[in-house]
Amino acid sequence: MRRKLVAGNWKMHGSHSANAELLAGISSARPFGCDVAVCVPFPYLSETAVALAGGPVLWGAQDCSAHEQGAYTGEVSVAMLAEFGCRYVIVGHSERRQYHAETDLLVAEKARTALARGVTPIVCVGETLAQRDAGETEAVVKRQLSAVIHALGHCAGEMVVAYEPVWAIGTGKVATPEQAQAVHALLRAQLKAATPNADEMKILYGGSMKPDNAVSLLSQPDIDGGLIGGAALKAADFVAICRAAG
Ligand code: 13P
Repeated sequence: MRRKLVAGNWKMHGSHSANAELLAGISSARPFGCDVAVCVPFPYLSETAVALAGGPVLWGAQDCSAHEQGAYTGEVSVAMLAEFGCRYVIVGHSERRQYHAETDLLVAEKARTALARGVTPIVCVGETLAQRDAGETEAVVKRQLSAVIHALGHCAGEMVVAYEPVWAIGTGKVATPEQAQAVHALLRAQLKAATPNADEMKILYGGSMKPDNAVSLLSQPDIDGGLIGGAALKAADFVAICRAAG
């Protein structure tokens, strides 16, 4: 059986005091029966690494540069993330695709750069409401994942995939367990055609996952955890989702 992963995506939220309280709340609730991680804004990586050092909760970032190093003002390289002990980096979040015009190709290149430095990319895919209504969900998520599979080649089995329907992010409109499972099964089938260890890979669901809907989503056969936005900012809610996964 695949061990589940619950990862918090703090997005652009936090402060020294709020982070300390949140991380203490999560740490004091251990042990968890699943893998747990928090993906924090860049400036808070250092204090997060200190707060979580030696414990089971892992940490990561929300984006990285596709470049190794150089004259790329404002960018953060994977080598830097690795120096801060990041285990994960989210790539291709819909907010980056939408607000920063990230293409499938760029997302794939970021995933490749991350893996090359030993940081596991959490690769986000997902359709908009218009795409779902037009019956394009399968084509969209397959196209997004295919670019990454192609870039990673024989390492494709090392990524984590997150299905995040754009219409469910921050809206309170969660995908039904059946809707989510249907897409997760498609993604698993696509991974199976590309890598021998697809059955061991984690495919997370993200989009308005909360304590009250986590159990039904996480009990689906191909949902291996959650990528949590709003509910990751409240220790009690995040811990409740971790408990539902464990
Ligand atoms: P919400 O849980 O706030 O809907 O956000 C999901 C998400 O975007 C996680 O990456």
